[in-house]
Amino acid sequence: MNITVIGPGAIGCLLAAYLTRAGEEVSLLDYRLKRVTLLQDRGIAVDGERETFHTPIKATAYLTEIRSTDIFILCVKASDTAVVAATLKDAIPPESHLLTLQNGMGNREKLSESFGSDRVFAGATSHGATLLEVGRVRHAGYGEIWLGGTSGSNSSQASQAILQNLAATMNRAGLQAHVVDDIESILWSKLVVNVGINALTAILGVPNGELLKTPTCQNIMDRAVAEAVQVASGCGIKLQLPEEIERVRAVCNSTAVNISSMLQDVQRQKKTEIDQINGAVVRMAASLGMASPVNEVLTALVRGLEAGYNVEGDKP
Ligand code: PAF
Repeated sequence: MNITVIGPGAIGCLLAAYLTRAGEEVSLLDYRLKRVTLLQDRGIAVDGERETFHTPIKATAYLTEIRSTDIFILCVKASDTAVVAATLKDAIPPESHLLTLQNGMGNREKLSESFGSDRVFAGATSHGATLLEVGRVRHAGYGEIWLGGTSGSNSSQASQAILQNLAATMNRAGLQAHVVDDIESILWSKLVVNVGINALTAILGVPNGELLKTPTCQNIMDRAVAEAVQVASGCGIKLQLPEEIERVRAVCNSTAVNISSMLQDVQRQKKTEIDQINGAVVRMAASLGMASPVNEVLTALVRGLEAGYNVEGDKP
């Protein structure tokens, strides 16, 4: 398959490396020329518990250098989705599809506004990845990928075929992908995981597994998750509370050594996805007339961390 991964962060590098190694035609698109040059020189090294491998990568800053793409996979920060959509709106050929594999809520909707809902797929992953430096990623938790498109009769046969083909391609690459009917529930479940883990790890500066070692931490995590589950229910998504708390703990365990994406952002002094994760819960709760005090505090604390960055921040 011809695949263009947009964004050379931890998940972007992980996908690009696995898919390239499996023999797919993969390009990695990045707006920063200096980083593109480094990626072209170094390729991508994946450092995993099960295996370590290196692959050359076709990195570019110019869409015009990519001959054809069946699917663009967005792995940029959720806060950048609107900018990426506006930049690529007229540049992406009409036959190409897009998949958002980003954290947070609202990415699919933003992309659909520019490209039409039939061309946009949504996905979630439980793979844990940490970017060690440009082009070097630790595969810290072996997870899965769930993919879904527009449900029901709105989805064309061509879109369905692309989605199935993508899942098969990812499976051949060893990425454990599934096409699901109800991607919305999966996106909510992923949001709940990020709500429980990301802000807390960023505030405390600890790997995911550490959250399970302190009862007070677990308590905050459980309460943040409970608020998100209530908001989900207000939005018509039925998630069960004890199961969701257990699931978030299980992800903490399976990605115990992982540095969450939000902590990685804080360490690099980059804007975090707090507004699309805990902040999104707070906004949705308010619109439903619900309270979300734990998520409010977590959101405020992460914004406080961002406000304290040094001016020269924004490291690669
Ligand atoms: O954002 C992250 O870091 C990941 O989604 C997860 C699953 C919390 C693992 O670190």
